Amino acid sequence: MSNESLANLLKEERRFAPPAALAASANVTAEAYEQAKADRLGFWAAQARRLSWETEPTEVLDWSNPPFAKWFADGRLNVAYNCVDRHVENGLGDRVALHFEGEPGDTRTITYAELQREVSKAAHALTELGVQAGDRVAIYLPMIPEAVVAMLACARIGAPHSLVFGGFSADALATRINDADARVVITADGGYRRGKPSALKPAVDEALTRPGTENVRSVLVVRRTGQEGIGWTEGRDVWWHELVERQPEEHTPQAFDAEHPLFILYTSGTTGKPKGILHTTGGYLTQVSYTHHAVFDLKPESDVFWCTADVGWVTGHSYIVYGPLSNGATEVLYEGTPDSPHQGRWWEIVQKYGVTILYTAPTAIRAAMKWGDDIPAKFDLSSLRVLGSVGEPINPEAWVWYRKHIGGDRTPVVDTWWQTETGGIMISPLPGVTETKPGSAQVPLPGIAATVVDDEAREVPDGSGGYLVLTEPWPSMLRTIWGDDQRYLDTYWSRFEGKYFAGDGAKKDDDGDIWLLGRVDDVMLVSGHNISTTEVESALVSHPKVAEAAVVGATDPQTTQAICAFVILRGGADAEEEGLVEELRAHVGKQLGPIAKPKRILPVAELPKTRSGKIMRRLLRDVAEHRTLGDVTTLTDSSVMDLIQSQLPAAS
Ligand code: WT7
Repeated sequence: MSNESLANLLKEERRFAPPAALAASANVTAEAYEQAKADRLGFWAAQARRLSWETEPTEVLDWSNPPFAKWFADGRLNVAYNCVDRHVENGLGDRVALHFEGEPGDTRTITYAELQREVSKAAHALTELGVQAGDRVAIYLPMIPEAVVAMLACARIGAPHSLVFGGFSADALATRINDADARVVITADGGYRRGKPSALKPAVDEALTRPGTENVRSVLVVRRTGQEGIGWTEGRDVWWHELVERQPEEHTPQAFDAEHPLFILYTSGTTGKPKGILHTTGGYLTQVSYTHHAVFDLKPESDVFWCTADVGWVTGHSYIVYGPLSNGATEVLYEGTPDSPHQGRWWEIVQKYGVTILYTAPTAIRAAMKWGDDIPAKFDLSSLRVLGSVGEPINPEAWVWYRKHIGGDRTPVVDTWWQTETGGIMISPLPGVTETKPGSAQVPLPGIAATVVDDEAREVPDGSGGYLVLTEPWPSMLRTIWGDDQRYLDTYWSRFEGKYFAGDGAKKDDDGDIWLLGRVDDVMLVSGHNISTTEVESALVSHPKVAEAAVVGATDPQTTQAICAFVILRGGADAEEEGLVEELRAHVGKQLGPIAKPKRILPVAELPKTRSGKIMRRLLRDVAEHRTLGDVTTLTDSSVMDLIQSQLPAAS
């Protein structure tokens, strides 16, 4: 990043101090940074004591064979016991664990005591199906309580789970079953999506016709929608309600080694086949439990926590299942989409359950901005006290809107940076400590070492940009890529010697705070200047007529790449308005400098997104460069690209 454009980009000057009352009773204070700095491993050893171990670990980190880490290696514990049974033993059996809200409006309230019975029965059921410790179980379910129960049942018997997001195709499911060599698949007849039942079981049936899935012995099927015409393979398929319901309600959890595999979760990566990210038991649970406690300031006796992610993503694993439940939280689990049956559905849920902590993604915040301020204004959101964001850089305007219109201008907003690979939150403000800056994840958490380096792996000075790296191992780090140690080394540990390369561009501001700039593949080269797509997008979104923007660099004979922007206008703005494009270009020029002015700006109705909410810039680049579109199978809605292409002016 050239220095003159950086100077322009660091203009965000709004600051928000922690609310005094929150700071006064915060779970974690500034002291934690000091403690971790004085004795990093001692700090993590202390956090490990948040958990109940059958055998307390005496070792903290074994880094004798880097980058293959072992944490708490001589300790033994059971994850499900930590997330469920110990709370019941502590007299909290009547506390609500899950407030489930189905998309059609059906609800279930599940206490910790009930969760213990459900998980115990499911653990017996898996054992009856022949699942043993170490066997992999694929889980392909909608956002229903059985998804949480199934994960915990696997953890209870030491069978690593591999969740496959319910929106993925039979192909994606087959590849993942094959790579992990899964023995059992847990699925449902279907789930609800935008008011309609949507089938899941047929995709499982199709996936199991593909080569490499022959080792799947059983398919356990939850009845959710009751839809007709579900195919059935005798001897392989079993109804959950038939098998699980008749099992004993008591089950003795067995302890596993701290490094026993807990789950595999596939992440797409830019090229090649999906990477099976492997997480293990003791270090993972330590870090997700601690970070959930620290970053959200969870008070389990009074808070109602809601993470809107799908359990099929790492956010759901760490901050719906393992983090919150290990902390004895009460949480909301919602099956559906934010706009079904109306665009106020989320805010209605916050009001109904008195949600105090909300954790969501920038894409959802921008959608709510686009739908209009008047929608959340109709609901009582005064219970909220901490708001979180994750998944991509949050544009400062979206951050400020979130705080103001959802958080009533009271709540801290914590922008949390992490990855499937990191397992838990790594960089984030602490709500009772950090003076926040809209758009910045700011500081590594206590016990975490992150910085920004240049091409030669040298740490950049404050005020400069480069690549985000993690310089010390952390408890919830991935242990390897399932079945492919070499790819683990090549992908993360070869770019900069001895440092974990995250693949994200980042900069440090004059205070040394970290700003994430998107994947390094999303940096454009325009007339010799590096310009990040994120920053041009944020500049566009800060214009009152723009709700959302996606920026790509398209090959250009004069300038190497030319900035091409796709924008969604806010309600009320007119795409045909004369001078609109010029006005937006001038606005970006003023915010970031003339070099960052987009060459082309195209108002569009929708943007192509993956199901985890990331904009697929690769496809927009194809459009901008007039190429045939690449693979669209991971889009939430593949018709979006047809729509965009039909709106394009003839090749310009
Ligand atoms: C990538 C990881 C972590 C759970 C969800 C995504 C981007 C994530 C932030 C943030 C800027 C962010 C990064 C990262 N990302 N959080 N707060 N600010 N960027 O998990 O699918 O593994 O994606 O998401 O680019 O590398 P994932």
